[in-house]
Amino acid sequence: MLLQNEDVINYNVDWLRRFRGNSRLVLRPKTTEHISKILKYCNERRLAVVPQGGNTGLVGGSVPLFDEIILSTQLMNEIINFDCNSGVLTCQSGCVLENLSANVSEHGYMMPLDLGSKGSCNIGGNISTNAGGIRLIRFGSLHGSTLGLEAVTADGSVIDCLTSMRKDNVGYHLKHLFIGSEGTLGIVTKVSILCPKAPSSVNLALLGCSNFDDVLKILALTKSNLGEILSAFEFLDAVSMRCSERYLSQKCPIQSAPFYVLIETSGSNDDHDQEKLGGLLEAVSSSGLIVDGTLATDLSKISTLWKLRESITLGLLEDGFCYKYDVSLPLSSFYDIVTLMEDKLKELPYLKVCGYGHVADGNLHFNVTSRIYDERISGTIEKELYKFVASAGGSISAEHGVGQFKRDHMTDVKSPEVLSLMRNIKSIMDPHCILNPYKVIP
Ligand code: FAD
Ligand code: MLT
Ligand code: ZN
Repeated sequence: MLLQNEDVINYNVDWLRRFRGNSRLVLRPKTTEHISKILKYCNERRLAVVPQGGNTGLVGGSVPLFDEIILSTQLMNEIINFDCNSGVLTCQSGCVLENLSANVSEHGYMMPLDLGSKGSCNIGGNISTNAGGIRLIRFGSLHGSTLGLEAVTADGSVIDCLTSMRKDNVGYHLKHLFIGSEGTLGIVTKVSILCPKAPSSVNLALLGCSNFDDVLKILALTKSNLGEILSAFEFLDAVSMRCSERYLSQKCPIQSAPFYVLIETSGSNDDHDQEKLGGLLEAVSSSGLIVDGTLATDLSKISTLWKLRESITLGLLEDGFCYKYDVSLPLSSFYDIVTLMEDKLKELPYLKVCGYGHVADGNLHFNVTSRIYDERISGTIEKELYKFVASAGGSISAEHGVGQFKRDHMTDVKSPEVLSLMRNIKSIMDPHCILNPYKVIP
């Protein structure tokens, strides 16, 4: 299917409304063969192509800079097979994550990843960004859960690595080149994912604490007390919580605190899991690490509590403009940048500075808002944040990728040798640079 003129506007603008391209053509193929023919045609004529899934990416990777052709996988949404014995799901890359979750749950399984954008993002987009999310702590990254994939490279070649076997050590593990390469090396068309069994017992605790050191002490106690049943450990600060409450028109059910943590257990035995979680809650409370807390054991309360965490991203946009950063930092200096930035920005017209994220994975989502975009704010943030991340030995992109947003910082954080190898790989797989040009590689 082909879209033109006014229909293409939404495909040109990214989710954060920061980047806007000027493509006049969106192609929505249904099969691998269609993609192969399209890329062969574009490659021969040197026409640039931007792969797009759910367009929920946060680094401007899914939208064109100029008039590149947008190749949307939205109509490639067929579930090919689910093997109830192994838990291996095979599907086309345009399947929406939430639909896949609903489908595998009918067989008693779950998807190994969960993101706030699950209602729109596609599994192909997830794989191409190597998306993390709240369950990475339990199930690891998509480099592990993706057993195989099929992709089409720039000249139209179909690379069939779509095994559904858990072990396959025959030659180079080419699938990894497509995981996290943000559509610059090929278009992922089919995937096979290893799904874990859905837990029969799930509990979620929301705790409030008075300082970030206590968050870290709770994390350490959680890991040793809960062990294998821990399935998520997320944190948010007070500004993030207020933002979510306002967006949802819903009050946080516990007393206000400077920091909050959400601790989820997933297991197979209610009594066992609740005993372990009860022991943890007793320990954190008797050590004076929390100011208040609540426990959810039924699915409806669990989902209400999760909404408080998942809605921050949407809530922040209500201020007007959101400067969104996603960094990895050692836990010892994890939250310091939020306090430091409040000071650095104090003369500028910002509205909020806040931090939340996947603390157990060392992943901070650092966000600032203002009514409209202000270059002085973004300039100050980037100067201070990237300096801070470099001196702490962190990463300037923990899970959102590079896209067009962070491309020019690649030379600051990757050595010339590493960049040269990346460029060589790109030139072998896409010699005319038609796939997602101007993204990732500087
Ligand atoms: P798009 O946005 O369409 O594309 C993303 C990138 O992948 C682009 O570079 C695009 O060219 C490429 N691409 C897309 N499909 C293909 C394909 N089939 N083949 C090759 N390249 C392709 N991210 C996280 O990591 N963790 C989170 O917890 C998280 N939460 C989020 C919550 C919200 C509310 C929002 C809006 C975003 C969140 N994200 C998160 C970011 C985003 O949802 C993820 O990066 C997601 O994986 C993108 O999927 P998508 O289908 O929307 O991809
Ligand atoms: C999240 O964990 O909520 C996402 O990565 C989105 C964000 O950073 O806002
Ligand atoms: Zn995240």
